[in-house]
Amino acid sequence: MPQDIAVKETDLLELIEGALNADYTVVRQIGNRIAKDCLATAPDTSKRIKSATRRNGVPLRAAGYSEALPVDPKSRGALVEEQPWPISPIFLNSALKHTFDSFIASVKKYDLLAEHGLSGRMNLLMAGPPGTGKTLVAGHIASALSMPLYVVRLDSLISSLLGDTAKNIRSVFETIPQKNGIIFLDEFDAVAKLRNDNHELGELKRVVNTLIQSIDSLDDRAIVIAATNHAELLDRAIWRRFPYRMNFGLPDEDLRKHLWNYFLFSDSGEPNTLSALAKISGTLSGADIESISMSARRHALITGSPLDPQQVTKDILHSHTEVDPAEKRAICTLLHRTYHLSQSEILALIKVSRQTLSTYLKD
Ligand SMILES: Nc1ncnc2c1ncn2[C@@H]1O[C@H](COP(=O)(O)OP(=O)(O)O)[C@@H](O)[C@H]1O
Ligand SMILES: [Mg+2]
Repeated sequence: MPQDIAVKETDLLELIEGALNADYTVVRQIGNRIAKDCLATAPDTSKRIKSATRRNGVPLRAAGYSEALPVDPKSRGALVEEQPWPISPIFLNSALKHTFDSFIASVKKYDLLAEHGLSGRMNLLMAGPPGTGKTLVAGHIASALSMPLYVVRLDSLISSLLGDTAKNIRSVFETIPQKNGIIFLDEFDAVAKLRNDNHELGELKRVVNTLIQSIDSLDDRAIVIAATNHAELLDRAIWRRFPYRMNFGLPDEDLRKHLWNYFLFSDSGEPNTLSALAKISGTLSGADIESISMSARRHALITGSPLDPQQVTKDILHSHTEVDPAEKRAICTLLHRTYHLSQSEILALIKVSRQTLSTYLKD
């Protein structure tokens, strides 16, 4: 039900101005502020306003503002794209959470740090296996800072005609900070991969040098985030330009509990089920856990049956055959011997009686 809420005149005027300037950052900032102001009095309205601000704005290029974002001069292809702020939460271990928080705090307290000569470059490098949340973290940083996030299309940057690459890189590094945006070099290894392609080594050097020069010539306040699946491919000289680093690994057991709870059970999982799933999924990334969970939930919804932890277990263990009693025994023994699940944890996943389970485990 729509509700009446109070909006300050200044907020309303700024909102109108932002909308007419097609300045999505301003629109989102004010929208979020209004949502916050009415959270206590009209929580549902607040939620609706908040979710409305998450929508992608109309691409400015489609609306005829071709000068808004840098494009490749020859192909007219976009060199950057605005990435919307994420809706889903991010789960991080305490070390990564610490860097995440201190990066955001440093940006917010930049002036204080600068006064004491303690500011440095606001450049963050994330490295680690695919599907562990690097791209998602970039979105959460942008959202926490209320800044637009511009993903640099390294592929189109680099595949652009020889000689234009340097010009394109410079244009990206000039334009985005002017829009108070965060430069996000996602899949940063694309640069290093040039080495293996049939590009000349000379071009790789030129690209790396231009990147370094562009990073160095940025205003101190500009924010650059880079993410790579292959940290070892990156040039040392590039490494050094990123004082903030986050090294991602596959999620640990505690994190896996949170991920299963969120993705599979919408935050209502039973402790035994969660600890059992967490114990057997040590080789999975967050993205893997999400995809197994989504497929289990889709199946439950389509067939009108409850969520089936046994099927999820089999998906995790890569066994996709129907369970006959003999196989059930094999799975139970495996869960007990290899993954050290307790009997209660096994019972949370597999449909057997306590008695049958003890006979399985006795032999
Ligand atoms: N640590 C995490 N917390 C929450 N969601 C995660 C996490 N890791 C992965 N995911 C899920 O997997 C998806 C893909 O992750 P992504 O950020 O694209 O990984 P990467 O950039 O490291 O390859 C995310 O959008 C999210 O739904
Ligand atoms: Mg990614």
